[in-house]
Amino acid sequence: MACISYFGKLYTKNMSNTTFLMDYFPEDSPIMQFSGRDNVAIINGEHWKSQRKIMNPAFHRSMPVGVFGSLMPSVFELIEQTQNSGEGYISASKLTRRLTLDALGKAAFDFDFFALKDENSVWVTTYNQVLESFLEVIPTFVPAVDYVYRFFSRQRRERYNATFKLISLLDDLADKKRVELQQKPDLDNKAQNEKDLLTLMLEAEIRGEGSWTKEELRHNMAIFFLAGHDTTSNSLAFCLYYLAINQDVQTKAREEVLSVLGNDMEDVFPTLEDCKKFPYLDMCIKEGLRLQPPANEITPRLTPKDTDLDLGGIVIPRGSMVNVDIQALHYNPNLWHEPEKFIPERFAENGEHSLHEGVTYAPFSSGGRVCLGINFSMAEQRVVLSMLLKKYEWKLPSNSIHREGIVMGQTFNLAPESLTIQFNNRY
Ligand code: HEM
Repeated sequence: MACISYFGKLYTKNMSNTTFLMDYFPEDSPIMQFSGRDNVAIINGEHWKSQRKIMNPAFHRSMPVGVFGSLMPSVFELIEQTQNSGEGYISASKLTRRLTLDALGKAAFDFDFFALKDENSVWVTTYNQVLESFLEVIPTFVPAVDYVYRFFSRQRRERYNATFKLISLLDDLADKKRVELQQKPDLDNKAQNEKDLLTLMLEAEIRGEGSWTKEELRHNMAIFFLAGHDTTSNSLAFCLYYLAINQDVQTKAREEVLSVLGNDMEDVFPTLEDCKKFPYLDMCIKEGLRLQPPANEITPRLTPKDTDLDLGGIVIPRGSMVNVDIQALHYNPNLWHEPEKFIPERFAENGEHSLHEGVTYAPFSSGGRVCLGINFSMAEQRVVLSMLLKKYEWKLPSNSIHREGIVMGQTFNLAPESLTIQFNNRY
């Protein structure tokens, strides 16, 4: 409980040094080659500051809503296919996983995974193998075991090789983009908000705001996958679920969307301006993130000095490892009225959350180490959900195992794997 109540104070005080599982990975393990120890999510101090500085412009400009919207026709096609196949419903988490991988590929690196077009495309398979490889704990931690394991197991060999294949892809994309921008800095004359993150990070380097080694750049690109893919995918899947079981909320969110995008029988791609006019939709996304925070803890950190919490003499000694249980914070009945219920109005201007003191809601963490990708993820979710709300009404199929409450998958990322949604066209 301590770490929950003291959350706000710790953030404003001295959390800095980070201790990680990463410390235990051998230098030559695939995961170390992929995301290293020198990415922005892991490093601390001056090194962290310099990386945040060079990444900040990419994450704080207006977001690429055009890129996100451009993926939606493929989503509609997939929904239509399931409607025509007689099944009538679609796996929500598979759909959002494919969508968010394509969104990340396009918006972060200008690369097409073709996940929506083909769930078995070469790069989707490669990416999945990489993630599966990291979940094989023993070979990942013990290189000697891995060596033997690879010798005997074709599956492990394929997963191992996939990591290096993805590494090569990221290096190639970065090298190519760097050369293009150095030769012709104005080459990418797209609107600033539609540029990919890699271009923006390299443009910041060209402007002299910092510099990247080849490895640092790759490790940070890798972190976008590890921090930004499943998180946004799960958030979208849960939001679909909560809107499905709360039809009144879905109707209200749709009314808001239609008041902005119009009620003609056609697909409309929301603009940046449109996306600012969805306060109720934002509340729904936030409430979904309260109930199902994709990261249910932050990374444990060591206090670099004694930290007095100003709570009647409670001091956290220097060198203590502290963590924040985001899930427990979001379900604390002393903070949230009926915490188990989906009530987006909590996040209204004068709603429950506005009356709280300190940090009581932190799906993206808080303070200096707050998630870099908040705006990116929220923009993506606004575009996707508004376009779905305009085109469809949705509910859980009558045989859904989630009717009495969400049933989690047993995987690493706590996705509602078996969640299916029945979409009915409005036009
Ligand atoms: C719903 C979606 C997301 C959630 C819930 C989420 C949550 C979080 C949380 C809780 C942290 C802090 C972790 C810690 O304290 O160790 C974090 C950090 C981070 N996130 Fe996200 N994230 C999301 C989407 C994204 C996306 C889309 C990206 C990138 C494209 C991203 C990039 C990062 C990075 C780079 C950090 C490290 C920041 C730093 O330490 O300075 N995240 N995220």
